[in-house]
Amino acid sequence: MSDPQNWSFETRQIHAGTSPDPTTGARALPIYQTTSYQFRDSQHAADLFALAEMGNIYTRIMNPTQDALEQRVASLEGGVAALAVASGQAAETLAILNLAEAGDHVVASASLYGGTYNLLHHSLPKMGITVSFVEDPDDPENWQSLVQENTRAFYAETIGNPKGDVLDIETVAGVAHRNGVPLIVDNTVATPYLIRPFEFGADVVVHSATKYLGGHGTAIAGVIVDGGSFDWRGGKHPMFTTPDPTYHGVVYADLGAPAFALKARVQLLRDLGPAVSPFNAFLVVQGIETLSLRMDRHVANAQRVAEFLEAHDAVDRVNYAGLPTNQWHAAQQKYCPKGAGAVLTFELHGGKEAGQKFVEALELHSHVANIGDVRSLVIHPASTTHSQLTPEEQLTTGVTPGLVRLAVGLEGIEDILADLEAGFRAAKSA
Ligand SMILES: Cc1ncc(COP(=O)(O)O)c(C=O)c1O
Repeated sequence: MSDPQNWSFETRQIHAGTSPDPTTGARALPIYQTTSYQFRDSQHAADLFALAEMGNIYTRIMNPTQDALEQRVASLEGGVAALAVASGQAAETLAILNLAEAGDHVVASASLYGGTYNLLHHSLPKMGITVSFVEDPDDPENWQSLVQENTRAFYAETIGNPKGDVLDIETVAGVAHRNGVPLIVDNTVATPYLIRPFEFGADVVVHSATKYLGGHGTAIAGVIVDGGSFDWRGGKHPMFTTPDPTYHGVVYADLGAPAFALKARVQLLRDLGPAVSPFNAFLVVQGIETLSLRMDRHVANAQRVAEFLEAHDAVDRVNYAGLPTNQWHAAQQKYCPKGAGAVLTFELHGGKEAGQKFVEALELHSHVANIGDVRSLVIHPASTTHSQLTPEEQLTTGVTPGLVRLAVGLEGIEDILADLEAGFRAAKSA
């Protein structure tokens, strides 16, 4: 058999992290629906608890089905290890708490999913972690100017949801590293099939696996991937260089490349507890096995929809980096030449009222708060996903009052376009 290290993305999305079950021969990934694991003897139990030996103890912190998901996503991203958790929000929260505590600071792009913006703007400050938002993340000076002595990380989405801006990962990672801090990116909209952030200098990747990784709208899950190359001994992250009393004084930076993923698992997942269920881990692995095929089709459909919308006389503006007229088209060509993902937004003539009429008139498109389903989805962000933000905050995340967001699905493109045309007819009557 060829060397798994050299396998293509398409082979790794099916095989990485799994092999036939040694006990039963089961070829598909088994769902290990168990809370706990029998120790061989007392010494084995003590060694596992002391991290002297790695192995299964309790499903809150590890499970063989979860492990398969972790190994597969780590392989697809090119990371050294991963940690699967209960949701994308949990992945973001643990990734940040893994390197920042009360008194620390994070610099983040303002172009974020609404739930992430809330976490960074409201919940983290309640825990004593402050966040400064970069309004225009395309200019590296804007990142540099917000760095403080207590800054511990930079945070951004590789393709912003819903703004559709493509992050200049290489430049922003460069600024982060010059300041001794890592760049954490949310790669949910792009997936590792379209963008591999570690190849451009990012240090930690987070995912809402709920979206394109799972791909079928059936499971909430999240993943943190450790790039393994950040030097935690640089002086800005004492959490990694001071002994942890809960593991007999282990120093995480001494544990080598997967220090970030390991610390997030044995400290934060242990103590805060947002474990992914084995069944949801299984569903996400099932989705990943067809990721490249689905993303090719998502992107082809999204490109056609974007071109259709741009040519439509009822549309004021389309935001999709796959269009040559888009501000981020050059960045798209560099970072995701296979396509700009399948989330796009547009502004109708007639603003909010026309936008809402349009959404209500669609029949093939499902009106739901999600992206990354096989089905085409539509939503009006200002009154839903981003409604907890003030109008000013909405504008900084790219949400204008009449904006409509589409998550283009895998149906026949002519059926998708016909449904949109029916929406335009309804919007016109508004
Ligand atoms: C880009 C992005 N990141 C993170 C999340 C949060 O993920 P979850 O809903 O799995 O908690 C979402 C959810 O929509 C998202 O779109």
